[in-house]
Order: sequence, then C-alpha cells, then structure tokens
Amino acid sequence: MNILLTGGLGFIGSAVVRRLIANTDHVVVNVDKETYAASHEALDGARGHSRHVHVKADICDAEAISAVLAQWQPEVVMLLICTKR
Ligand SMILES: NC(=O)c1ccc[n+]([C@@H]2O[C@H](COP(=O)([O-])OP(=O)(O)OC[C@H]3O[C@@H](n4cnc5c(N)ncnc54)[C@H](O)[C@@H]3O)[C@@H](O)[C@H]2O)c1
Repeated sequence: MNILLTGGLGFIGSAVVRRLIANTDHVVVNVDKETYAASHEALDGARGHSRHVHVKADICDAEAISAVLAQWQPEVVMLLICTKR
C-alpha cells in the first residue's frame, strides 16, 4: 500500500522511512519542506529506492498536499511533524 508521511528527512521521520523501506513492501511518499533540520543523508539506504518518493512541500500548502493525495492516494498518513499554522 501507499504510505504518506511528513517530515521524513528529519530525525524521527528518516528512521521511519528507512525502516518501512527495509522491512515492508509499501510505497513511502515522503513530504518534507526541507528546512534546516532536513537531512538527505539520513535517508541513506532508502534514498533513491524505487518505493521511496520524495516530495518537497510544506504541509501548510493545501494545494500541494491535495495534489500529493490525489496522485498517490495513500491508505495511511503518518504526521511526524506538527505546525502551529
Ligand atoms: N526528536 C525527539 O526526541 C522529539 C520528542 C518529542 C516530540 N518531537 C516532535 O516530533 C516531530 C519530529 O521530530 P524530529 O526530531 O524528527 O524533528 P526534525 O526537526 O529532526 O525534523 C523535522 C522534519 O520536518 C520537516 N518539516 C518541518 N516543517 C515542515 C513543514 N511545514 N512541511 C513539511 N515538512 C516540514 C523538516 O524539513 C525536517 O526534515 C517534531 O514535531 C518534534 O517537535 C520530537
């Protein structure tokens, strides 16, 4: 199935992405704004994997997130960051 998660370039999110790619057959759609906290290196092992999709987007951007949801139609959404907006 398709899993959408947010903040997948962060400390917690990257660990989740690596684990999902290594231990499941799920497609992982990783939505991350790429702030100062983001690390592509943290995804080593999952980066470039055929089941890992990286989308640079802000979760506050309703239009961008709607497009991601429409394209990937995830069965599961994991919100690994929060925002005050
Ligand atoms: N690490 C901990 O020990 C800990 C403890 C308690 C709570 N938390 C909370 O868990 C969440 C994740 O923690 P972490 O340590 O992985 O954080 P992190 O700062 O390492 O990573 C956050 C990731 O989210 C991305 N991001 C930030 N704002 C975004 C936005 N608006 N849209 C899309 N992507 C965005 C950043 O680019 C980054 O890759 C945070 O909300 C944090 O407050 C963390």
